[in-house]
Amino acid sequence: MATAFARNQWYVAAYASEVGRTFLARTILGEPIVFYRTGQDGRAVALADRCVHRRYPLSESRLDGDTIVCGYHGFTYDTSGTCVFVPGQQRIPRTARVASYPVAELDSFVWVWIGDPELADDKLIPRAPHMADPEFVTVSGMEPIDCDYGLLVDNLLDLSHETYLHGGYIGTPEVADTPITTDADEQAGIVRVARHMVDAACPPFYAKSTGIQGRITRLQDIEYFAPCLYLLHSRITPAGEQNPLFRTEITYAITPSAPGQVYDFWAVSRNFATDDPAVTEFLRDFNHQVVMQDVVALNILQKALDSESAGYQELSIGIDAGGLAARRILAQLAAQ
Ligand code: FES
Ligand SMILES: [Fe+2]
Repeated sequence: MATAFARNQWYVAAYASEVGRTFLARTILGEPIVFYRTGQDGRAVALADRCVHRRYPLSESRLDGDTIVCGYHGFTYDTSGTCVFVPGQQRIPRTARVASYPVAELDSFVWVWIGDPELADDKLIPRAPHMADPEFVTVSGMEPIDCDYGLLVDNLLDLSHETYLHGGYIGTPEVADTPITTDADEQAGIVRVARHMVDAACPPFYAKSTGIQGRITRLQDIEYFAPCLYLLHSRITPAGEQNPLFRTEITYAITPSAPGQVYDFWAVSRNFATDDPAVTEFLRDFNHQVVMQDVVALNILQKALDSESAGYQELSIGIDAGGLAARRILAQLAAQ
């Protein structure tokens, strides 16, 4: 069963570094959008990516200063989406405009508001301050997945799968063995899941990046700000010690693209070995492999679900408490 889209919400559309003077096309909640940056003041612009004339994608067109000249017949749009030129006549039809979307740049993300622009309030955007904090070094990427975005929410809220899907990478037996505590604030749309392992094996992800040889205390505290932002606050110390404390902030943005398609933005930020490029390269490469394990699994899972007859039954257990709370919240947001 497909997870309904929640409109009148902010979604991560891109990393700020992806938006520049060439067009970036992304489809968000089924809406094709073109992103670019103005030459005048460098601000990010988001317009509907379909020319009002014959629906040619504006992302396949060109910039003239800060206006977009449609690549098909030349309709020209300013940064507000208003058409300022049509070929062959002086009169510009009053309806010649494309939608413009509210955007906000925060914590190195470009957020876009999908819904009624009048309701857009950038104070509602959840924060990921470590993403732009000079005390942290961040590696990041984005993978499109052919699955319902609810499957990715499920995946991230239950980390017991680390033991099985990511064994030898980030999973050890203690992850699946340790019970979680879940706390859902359905009013605020926030789910928190905590798993604290006081004496656990150190998976390669942390052994290679921190240099710890033996067992570890491993704290995983998840905060999910529905619908889009997911933070995993990870704290590692050698088992039985208070120091050194290694902080890793793992960030995901879960942006529904279209039915059965989701953008999986991922980032790993650390406050240790920040001047060691070998650690940076290791984490970039290793975490990308971990993300791809999830991508492959979710592509397979979606295909399997698509081949089921309607009304199949799932069975949920204790590890699913966070994911089930998230589903309730997403259903409420979508119904609003
Ligand atoms: S489709 Fe854009 S000008 Fe014709
Ligand atoms: Fe995973």
